[in-house]
Amino acid sequence: MVQKHDVGFANGLTNYGDRDFSLYLRRSFAQSMGYSREMLEKPVVGIAYTGSGFNNCHRHFPELLEAVKRGVLASGALPVAFPTISLGEVFLSPTSLKFRNLMAMDTEEMIRAQPMDAVVLMGGCDKTVPAQLMGAVSAARPAIMLIGGPMMTGRHRGERLGACTDCRRFWARYRAGDVSADEISTVEGRLATTSGTCAVMGTASTMACIAEALGMILPGTAAIPAVHADRLRAAEATGAAAVRLIGSTTLTPEKIVNAKSVENALRVLLALGGSTNAVIHLTAIAGRAGVRVSLERLNELSATTPVLVNLKPVGNGYMEDFHASGGMGRLLRELKDLLHLDCMTITGETLGERLAAEHDDHVDRTVIAARSEPLEPQGGLVALFGNLAPQGAILKRSAADVRLFEHEGRAVVFSSLADLAARIDDPALDVTADDILVLQNAGPHAPEAMPEAGYLPIPKKLAAKGVKDMIRVSDARMSGTAFGTIVLHVTPDTASGGPLALVRTGDRIRLSVGKGRIDLLVDEDELKRRAAAIPPAEAPPARGYSALYAREILGADEGCDFRFLVAPQP
Ligand code: FES
Repeated sequence: MVQKHDVGFANGLTNYGDRDFSLYLRRSFAQSMGYSREMLEKPVVGIAYTGSGFNNCHRHFPELLEAVKRGVLASGALPVAFPTISLGEVFLSPTSLKFRNLMAMDTEEMIRAQPMDAVVLMGGCDKTVPAQLMGAVSAARPAIMLIGGPMMTGRHRGERLGACTDCRRFWARYRAGDVSADEISTVEGRLATTSGTCAVMGTASTMACIAEALGMILPGTAAIPAVHADRLRAAEATGAAAVRLIGSTTLTPEKIVNAKSVENALRVLLALGGSTNAVIHLTAIAGRAGVRVSLERLNELSATTPVLVNLKPVGNGYMEDFHASGGMGRLLRELKDLLHLDCMTITGETLGERLAAEHDDHVDRTVIAARSEPLEPQGGLVALFGNLAPQGAILKRSAADVRLFEHEGRAVVFSSLADLAARIDDPALDVTADDILVLQNAGPHAPEAMPEAGYLPIPKKLAAKGVKDMIRVSDARMSGTAFGTIVLHVTPDTASGGPLALVRTGDRIRLSVGKGRIDLLVDEDELKRRAAAIPPAEAPPARGYSALYAREILGADEGCDFRFLVAPQP
């Protein structure tokens, strides 16, 4: 029996110089897995499976996988799961971002190398969704994403708790002496009580919503809680949708992700008051499709996009509330006149057709605000420029203290993460609440690979006096679940010779959110003297992935992708 060419297991044969032999050998080995001939003749839907003992957020993936397979089989194709790298946010050192591009390469290459007619990408935890979308866009094969869904909240003394905004809130109270060691230990067991991703509008939730705004997941599925029966139904439907994509040359990720859908995703990010990390990830995903995300354009969109979603860390609710209030469908309808409605989605409908077909009128206005009564008139994120960040920096203004938006203060500089850890709680540290904390050497070119260290802790002696927020500036990132007046992603970063390297304790820094600027108030000659005195950088790692990372990593303004993976811009 000779199988139809280029379908299912007959796709992309191993090369032995004899095509029929290759097919015969592959079928023989495939039969060792117990497949019948009938099954082996079906088209194949690959399932990029990211369950891992090191990824708590994907704990429910075995069950979801079964539902995806059910949908694929019922629609006439053969589901074949394959593992890729999984990135469990808190289990990776130095930081998960370092490995996002590795996962993207793994995903891209395994989609391309293995015999599949379409692929379902199962992701959820922070870096997994962008990594899979980056890989799928580059692979340019029919693909659909399935989001794992957020955790449900836990309870502590009658109060709802959700990872990880409440993790930080309780930790800050513990540091300030408000919460005892016993209580923090109890809270530790109540923050993350179900499978799924962080329960707030952190990076994972933001990326799930962005995947829906881009059109890469089924409508209405971004926010379904991980443990909800609807999540399993979404998985089944995603499997069926993947079968419908087989043979499509138009509904492929590199076409669905385009300049217009990326702009829709930016609008959604701004209306969510979403994670700052999403700017980096969306830039990287767009870059794989040859689309550039400029921070200047982000600011233009931010000026005309209101914040409508009231979830932690910028508001009060949790993802389960967002889902119950109408989720992405409701948000997209609120934003309708700001969106490119002609964007095609993975179902074959345009965004406009999708929204026209949705009639669920229920909305909880305490969770999703009306356009006429937004939570904030402008978007949740703003890009800053100035002599300290010539290529830009990001501030999540919706999570910041408006009283610090126009502020000049004295810099208190930490030269590295180690220096920060060593001195931040030193009772002798010369610091006041009006100062500006600066962290250097935590950007993408630093050995730590841009950790989420931009949320510098308030020095213990100030926290104990009730100080809750200060301006903090760094080339690091911040968890999407964190909050504060925090200037992040300063580009170029310290390790690539950016001006952040030239700041010294005692310098004056001026932040003006109104003018969109962050400036170091030191004269040019002095800065030149300091630049000349900076010692040469240590030699980069010589081997393995770390060597590749050090050689190819791009700045935050280019999504921290690898130089050789970005598509040329048309
Ligand atoms: Fe996985 Fe927060 S740790 S989403």
